[in-house]
Amino acid sequence: MTKNADLLARRNLAVARGVANMHNIYAERAENAEVWDVDGRRYIDFAGGIGVLNTGHRHPKVMAAVQRQMEQYTHTCFQVLPYEPYVALAERLNSLAPGDAPNKTLFLTTGAEAVENAVKIARAHTGRPAVIAFNGGYHGRTMMTLGLTGKVVPYKAGFGPFPGEIYHAPFPIEVHGISVDQSMAAVNNLFKADVEPARVAAIIIEPVQGEGGFYVAPPEFLKRLRALCDDHGILLIADEVQAGAGRTGRLFAMEHSGVVPDLTTLAKSIAGGFPISAVVGRADIMDSVGPGGLGGTYAGSPLGCAAALAVLDVFEEEGILERSLALGERLISRLRSMAQSYACIGDVRGLGSMVAMELFKTVDGKPVADADLTRQLVVKAAERGLILLSCGMYGNVIRILVPITGSNEVVDEGLDIIEGCLESLVQG
Ligand SMILES: Cc1ncc(COP(=O)(O)O)c(C=O)c1O
Repeated sequence: MTKNADLLARRNLAVARGVANMHNIYAERAENAEVWDVDGRRYIDFAGGIGVLNTGHRHPKVMAAVQRQMEQYTHTCFQVLPYEPYVALAERLNSLAPGDAPNKTLFLTTGAEAVENAVKIARAHTGRPAVIAFNGGYHGRTMMTLGLTGKVVPYKAGFGPFPGEIYHAPFPIEVHGISVDQSMAAVNNLFKADVEPARVAAIIIEPVQGEGGFYVAPPEFLKRLRALCDDHGILLIADEVQAGAGRTGRLFAMEHSGVVPDLTTLAKSIAGGFPISAVVGRADIMDSVGPGGLGGTYAGSPLGCAAALAVLDVFEEEGILERSLALGERLISRLRSMAQSYACIGDVRGLGSMVAMELFKTVDGKPVADADLTRQLVVKAAERGLILLSCGMYGNVIRILVPITGSNEVVDEGLDIIEGCLESLVQG
């Protein structure tokens, strides 16, 4: 029996079924954009632990910073005995976040917790209850964030009721026939049919939908949402848990549109593999919550703060944003050239290195999302040594979250595997 098979058998007996595994490949060690499993097989990692590893597995500077921190203290709880790395990281994010107004920051542990707290802050600031989110959006697995998430299966089914006063509108996706005008009309229709704007605390949006399918919010849409929020005293929350931390070629994805949100949530790649999340926002809004209203035992852990400070150093010292743009161009041009040969690739898109391709089949002369082919591609790629991730409302999107620090050789090797798999799955 292989070690992977043995671990799978143990896992099936010991671990809750609800935690699905995309691959039955047990990791043993990892370095930058490569992972080796317990049976000694090497894989190229195009998943990055779902967008956590923009600076790669075990970046030496991140590892050294965490090691230094471990020698000093690992936990005091910021609310009990505060520490400098928390303050230093807040100062740094405050100055980097979009907008001219002074910012303040709160640290937590997970992306969902950041979103929960952004909603708490928005409600405290506005004194209003309602939140508007978008179809296909993903905000986490806690009750509020599941409520905000705009996809029922597999996330929400069976877990309700969710907190009240959450409303959804369609996200503008041209390739699926939803225009910016239609999305705006749907938001305005919520004000007619469901909730008056004066009851709405916030609109939350991912500048690039992550789990939903790597759809980029058109800048025009973000601008119109900003204007709508300003007209009605509603706060705009940018959920940058997946799109942030340089993935799109800017530290904050919202920078591409020039739209300044009131609050931003961050997590995943801000700390290169260590669990920490943040809400960054306008100081007057952040300070709407009184002392004791925010926090958490592990929130803003010293190890997470040390890792995130090192990640920001790496961004500055190693030109990660420029590399993200160049990597994005490399990925897009190669996938577009594959699309010339494989008709199943119906759309290739991205912002910076947040890149995806969408797979279709033709039924009765019309393109239909091909979730089966997408699943087969993920399985076959793993057989050939590439870890891929799918996503999307229709399960037909292959997204690429390879470490931005991955070398061109390794990235090209991964792309070659994708092409080889497509060749054998659809025979050109
Ligand atoms: C946009 C977005 N928000 C929130 C979350 C939830 O983050 P976490 O899984 O760390 O709770 C995710 C996770 O994928 C995400 O992509």
